[in-house]
Amino acid sequence: PYDHYRTLRDTNPVQEHPMGFWFVSRHADVSALLRDARLSVADHNLAPGPMRDQYEKLIANAPVKLVTLLDSDPPDHTRLRSLVGKVFTPRAIAELEPMVTELVDDALDRIADAGSVNLIDALAFPLPFAVISTMLGMPDTDPKRLLELTETLVIALEPVADADVMTSIVDAEVELSAMMREVIAWKRNNPADDLLTALIQADHNGDFLSNDELVAQILLLFIAGHHTTVNLVGNGVTALLRHPDQLALLRSNPDLIGNAVEEFLRYDSPTHQTRRITLTPYQVGGREIPAGAMMIACLGAANRDERAFGPDADVLRIDREQARHHVSFSVGAHHCLGSALARLEGRVAISRLVNRFPKLALSGRVRWNGRINLRGATDVPISV
Ligand code: HEM
Repeated sequence: PYDHYRTLRDTNPVQEHPMGFWFVSRHADVSALLRDARLSVADHNLAPGPMRDQYEKLIANAPVKLVTLLDSDPPDHTRLRSLVGKVFTPRAIAELEPMVTELVDDALDRIADAGSVNLIDALAFPLPFAVISTMLGMPDTDPKRLLELTETLVIALEPVADADVMTSIVDAEVELSAMMREVIAWKRNNPADDLLTALIQADHNGDFLSNDELVAQILLLFIAGHHTTVNLVGNGVTALLRHPDQLALLRSNPDLIGNAVEEFLRYDSPTHQTRRITLTPYQVGGREIPAGAMMIACLGAANRDERAFGPDADVLRIDREQARHHVSFSVGAHHCLGSALARLEGRVAISRLVNRFPKLALSGRVRWNGRINLRGATDVPISV
């Protein structure tokens, strides 16, 4: 998509799309939009039009309405964020490093035995799912079914959904909600030192999360935290192995790993888009947008903007000074709550993979999932 993004940034940085949304691609405009508290994330604020129709169809069929952090505005968002944020602290995340390291090393042992594998199946996909499940303290419910269902829900993050897809999303939501209600009931009777217990007990001046709110936030953690992290590891390793000079640089300077992860996030963003809705007429990039309009902030395009990252913005440079200025975790009130966890997983997985296997190389063709938002590699054949 990157050539297309460049054309848009240069010629039509706030594009009015025939489907009825506005596509914003420059770094300065995307950042301004995401930081602007006057914009909403709640679809019920959309004005009549194709985007509103799509939303109406989705809620018309949905017997449960799950309100997550991602689709609530203040004061609901402020309340949810302080309750969930209470247990998602940097310190709590740092304490997970031994668990993440053990999961990574187990996967690397299996990779060493096999000699050549698809990195996604062997490491990138199972790792974040195992981390979130362990963190939450999930009981031994069927992880395969949970995975299948969350896979379906991820499709809801793609921009255009047809009727069949929407039905399967709603069905998955219903089954998942029932599953999570059972898990929560079980956990209320079996509290432990885990995230789910902490979420149940999270107390904001005598205010607790309701059962429906708990269900929604737990599902959000699975959905927001899984495929994004798969893409960080999958796309990051792909980029690194396609740039042997950068791989050599990382091997000779292992301390660069933190900055390298920022550069992977910038160079090939795990998620390309997020949205905001205007409540009043709104000006961005010299254009006037009407009230009730869907604005797509293109994180993937902003991350390659020469105006922000210089003339070599399309080049992978793991020692790039401004790598951290990427917007892959968004900015402003909805800034990714799991960013410290994602960074930890990316850092541990990629550094341990590179250090363990001096002969690590791509051994076949990389294949991509064809998604517009959660664009990522599905096959990354490696030999070690
Ligand atoms: C929000 C990206 C990993 C939990 C977001 C947003 C982005 C994002 C772009 C904000 C969207 C917006 O402003 O509209 C990513 C990327 C990840 C990642 C690129 C991995 C590389 C995780 C993980 C978790 C997580 C591991 C937790 C397990 C959340 C939550 C929110 C969020 C709860 C909602 C925050 C709010 O609305 O206040 N993420 N994420 N994310 N993310 Fe992440």
